[in-house]
Amino acid sequence: MIRLVPQPQIIKEKGGFCKSNEMICVKNMSFTNKDAYRIVADEKITIYAGDERGFFYAQKTIKQLNALYGESIPRCEIEDCPVFSYRGFMLDCARHMIDFDEIKKFIDLASDLKLNKFHWHLSDDQGFRIELETIPELTEKGSVRNGDNFGSMCKSDKPYGGYYTKKQIAEIVEYCKERYIDVIPEIDIPGHSSAILHVFPELSCKKEPVEVKMRQGIYKDNFCIGNADTFEFIKKLLDELCDMFPYEYFHIGGDEAPNDYREDCPLCNNALKENGLKNFNELQCVFSNKISDYLKTKGKKAIVWNDILKGKKLDSDIVIQRWMDKKNLAPEYANRGSKVIISDFSPYYFDYPYGMYPLQKVYSYNPLGNKVLDKNGRKNIIGTEAPMWTEFVDNPQRLEYMLVPRWFAFAENSWTEQKNKDYPSFKEATQLLTNSMTDFNVAPLCDWDMPKLKRLSDTASFFNKFLKK
Ligand code: ACM
Ligand code: ZN
Repeated sequence: MIRLVPQPQIIKEKGGFCKSNEMICVKNMSFTNKDAYRIVADEKITIYAGDERGFFYAQKTIKQLNALYGESIPRCEIEDCPVFSYRGFMLDCARHMIDFDEIKKFIDLASDLKLNKFHWHLSDDQGFRIELETIPELTEKGSVRNGDNFGSMCKSDKPYGGYYTKKQIAEIVEYCKERYIDVIPEIDIPGHSSAILHVFPELSCKKEPVEVKMRQGIYKDNFCIGNADTFEFIKKLLDELCDMFPYEYFHIGGDEAPNDYREDCPLCNNALKENGLKNFNELQCVFSNKISDYLKTKGKKAIVWNDILKGKKLDSDIVIQRWMDKKNLAPEYANRGSKVIISDFSPYYFDYPYGMYPLQKVYSYNPLGNKVLDKNGRKNIIGTEAPMWTEFVDNPQRLEYMLVPRWFAFAENSWTEQKNKDYPSFKEATQLLTNSMTDFNVAPLCDWDMPKLKRLSDTASFFNKFLKK
């Protein structure tokens, strides 16, 4: 049986083998899904697709067939198209930078697995990582912290700094484009913004000095959302960034933004009154709506983490990324007609150890399985995303260990219909495919489905294993 990852929707095997070095491409097929393709592998191989994108995915399928069978591949017919149009991966390059070439390596792997959105987390409490022409002091000062204090895993007294140059960013955007991957930058506001506020403390509620943070956490310092200067600053930042990232979506964060300092802030309190709002969660929605409107003037749309739904005032055309949503506000938002991306932290946060989110748990997750979703809501789930946070990941070996093979399970969840999934055959195919990935530090097979970690201290000992490597 032919078994690929992600598994195509329909494979009819015809018996025997055929050479794969001669291909005929038939384009302009009227497939409704742009990612769809059909392969007829007979005497010769014929690929049918709507446009270049479908053709690209067909070639990825043939590449995997070659990896598994060699140049002669089984005679077959494959009809394929993805369940979701948005199949994303996030790399947090704020907590720890990921080497430029390492990012490219993961973009290559993502495209082999038919993922198509790279959410690039570039600003957080622990660093701002973009070269800017219009606000150079933000790059210079916001990209450096005094050390690392992320538990025993990543501890150092040495200053840590770095950013991606405009040239590097342009190269990554182009590299992705060649692989049909769109790049979505994230500037996390109004919370997780200590690195920016370190340079512009006057834009915080307290207006006091703010450090670029050295440890993980949720910090009370965040942008004053009642201050008109904050909005002007963000407009200026977006003016430069929108030119660097051509894709229509822009991520503006919105998660974990405590209101504590707003209570005593005259500007936030004024804004609350002026807008006739009940609380600061509503004010955060109004603030995000304004940024979303500004993005629209540039032909762009905003994505925001689901925390913002607490405020009940969010414009319905803002896309929500769901990560932790105990009250199921995101599925309700989808039911009402708005777009949602599923990144549920359990099991899609691959910074968590295998003992918590083993391969089978990741694989068996159904992104449309939430009970609150109705028929309309399911249609509004545009896709999935696997975020990779890097507080505890400061080297490529660890990054690769955490993501491979879990990206394979995630990719199949994002592309393949639930009814066509099967764990034992998936695991076997993933073993074969990852065996040949000699340039990656693939997690050893014994870790893929390691026994459940029961306590947080087990998690710590799991992480400590890396220190000994
Ligand atoms: C998040 O993990 N705070 C989005
Ligand atoms: Zn304020």
